[in-house]
Amino acid sequence: MKEEMRLDKYLAEGSVGTRSQVKQMIRKGRVRVNGEVVKKPELKVCVGIDRILADEKEICFEREIYIMLNKPAGVVSATRDQREKTVLDLLTDQRRKDLFPAGRLDKDTEGLLLLTNNGKLAHDMLSPKKHVDKVYFARIQGMVTEEDQKTFLKGVDIGEERLTLPADLKILRSGAVSEIEITIREGKFHQIKRMFEAVDKKVIYLKRISFGPLALDTALQPGEFRYLTEKEIGLIKGETNG
Ligand code: URA
Repeated sequence: MKEEMRLDKYLAEGSVGTRSQVKQMIRKGRVRVNGEVVKKPELKVCVGIDRILADEKEICFEREIYIMLNKPAGVVSATRDQREKTVLDLLTDQRRKDLFPAGRLDKDTEGLLLLTNNGKLAHDMLSPKKHVDKVYFARIQGMVTEEDQKTFLKGVDIGEERLTLPADLKILRSGAVSEIEITIREGKFHQIKRMFEAVDKKVIYLKRISFGPLALDTALQPGEFRYLTEKEIGLIKGETNG
């Protein structure tokens, strides 16, 4: 997936001039894209890929990037790894190596992962003080009960200094294998697996379906990704301002 933008918008965002000034520059032949003089302001350029020169000076600018990935099982939530495939390796076509995942999902966990180059926003979304809700769907080996719901609401001892924060547990199907939805407000290492271990059950499938105000786009198959919309970016920025 490439991020495309009109040439005149690119130059204006790169502080070359106003939209009408840069249009004039383009029409006068003062702008090159990948070495070629281009006279069409509406030409689509690929941000971070095409080389754009105005009056022979390269125009680059730092943009905030937000990508929603449906993480598949089998890849690690890291930027680099010696042996394992990482979530950044899934961004075929994407040459932005300044991105990183906002938080981690276990290697075998699927679902919503936000990739960004906005360190402050990522930090705020993950801050224990902000208590951003994370919702997961899970399949559990064993019968999940109302008792478990009460325990999770009170907080569970997972061997940390404190109990976990109250978590909402919704039972979708109870049986030898149960299906549940759980909302947690912190992100301790293997948190959900450890919470179920604490009530003698085992997570056999885990998928994150939302992260704060962001819901996983159901059109994204595991391994697929897309840029956040302006509206979604507004929502996550709103979430971390408070
Ligand atoms: N809890 C887990 O146990 N694993 C995850 O990947 C996320 C939450």
